[in-house]
Amino acid sequence: MGKRRWWLWWMVVAVGVGVVGVAAIGTRSGAGEGEGKVKVLEPLVTRIAFGSCANQSDPQPIWNAIIDFDPQVFIWLGDNVYGDVKRPFKLFGKERTVGPWKNAPRFIPSPPKELESRYQKAKSNPGYSRLRHTTQVVGTWDDHDYGLNDAGKEFGGKITNQKLLLDFLDEPQDSPRRKQEGVYTSYMFGPVGRQIKVILLDTRYHRDPLRSDGSVLGSSQWTWLEKELNGPKSAITIIGSSVQVISNLSATTRPLFSLESWGRFPKERNRLFKLIADTKREGVFFISGDVHFGEISRYDCSIGYPVYDVTSSGLTQAVEKAVPHVFSLIVRFVAWLTPTTMRVISKNCRFRSCTYAKFWSN
Ligand SMILES: *[C@@H]1O[C@H](CO)[C@@H](O)[C@H](O)[C@H]1NC(C)=O
Ligand SMILES: *[C@@H]1O[C@H](CO)[C@@H](O)[C@H](O)[C@H]1NC(C)=O
Repeated sequence: MGKRRWWLWWMVVAVGVGVVGVAAIGTRSGAGEGEGKVKVLEPLVTRIAFGSCANQSDPQPIWNAIIDFDPQVFIWLGDNVYGDVKRPFKLFGKERTVGPWKNAPRFIPSPPKELESRYQKAKSNPGYSRLRHTTQVVGTWDDHDYGLNDAGKEFGGKITNQKLLLDFLDEPQDSPRRKQEGVYTSYMFGPVGRQIKVILLDTRYHRDPLRSDGSVLGSSQWTWLEKELNGPKSAITIIGSSVQVISNLSATTRPLFSLESWGRFPKERNRLFKLIADTKREGVFFISGDVHFGEISRYDCSIGYPVYDVTSSGLTQAVEKAVPHVFSLIVRFVAWLTPTTMRVISKNCRFRSCTYAKFWSN
């Protein structure tokens, strides 16, 4: 409760200062240039937490660690719930969900009522409830909360599911985000001079099919993004994307396996880098989720200065958990060996680029 009061208090102060400011401008009108400008003071934001991939049916002890960090803002980067239904892994038999003879989908969407009840479950998790009371929670979605594994613009449930996500995030009823196509949005935190801009992309609603090298964002979102990046300066600009932006993992592991990422839409990714470079915006970096492991990647040749992508993935999910326990060390070893050309490899980062969620050992 303490933090909510804190925000409330700031709002009261902000509104109060705003009112005083307007009154001051009002009384001084005509009294002289440059007077009467009262800036609204925003609290400095220094602790932002972010994460992705939280199975609402699994225990979620990680909220304790997040609450201990006492973030002022928490950013959901997608798979905030698992909304679709995963069917059994079957190579043989009547219904084959994997392999070259596959004849049935591995994932099917849930009806809206079911997705809604999964959101309810996630929202009532005691740890998450505590966080919501102390921290401003914002977010975007990825495929499993959008409604279907790896889905893009073709997915039919997107309009209904957009409403469900925004309800989960307590988006005000009159928010423009409820009227636009897709859940992209932005925020500005902190006082002028030390502002942090957070841009959250929607990599689902307008996305072309995976192997098309088409669009990820769609034209309306591109227009919006250009405006956002050309807008008022900020000390730091964080661009949240559900899928990884920098990592080229799929380029080196295909055809064995491939993940979703901007790397699979090279034209679109170059457009993103070029846009950031053209706006000359400084202090930009990416945050992402999706892959069930944590990673920091860096690319030096894109936007005029080295750009980082910090991936926080697996609030409950971990790649090691996808295999029987005896194989988990092997998975970790293979992940460590996998050549991904843009992973940060230096004494300081190497360990960090392969760490797994802290709660995992609990
Ligand atoms: C979510 O957790 C439940 C309970 O542990 C499990 O049955 C289900 O398969 C999990 N779903 C995913 C997508 O991991
Ligand atoms: C990453 O992958 C893209 C697409 O396959 C390729 O064009 C690019 O050169 C790769 N970048 C690096 C640094 O390996």
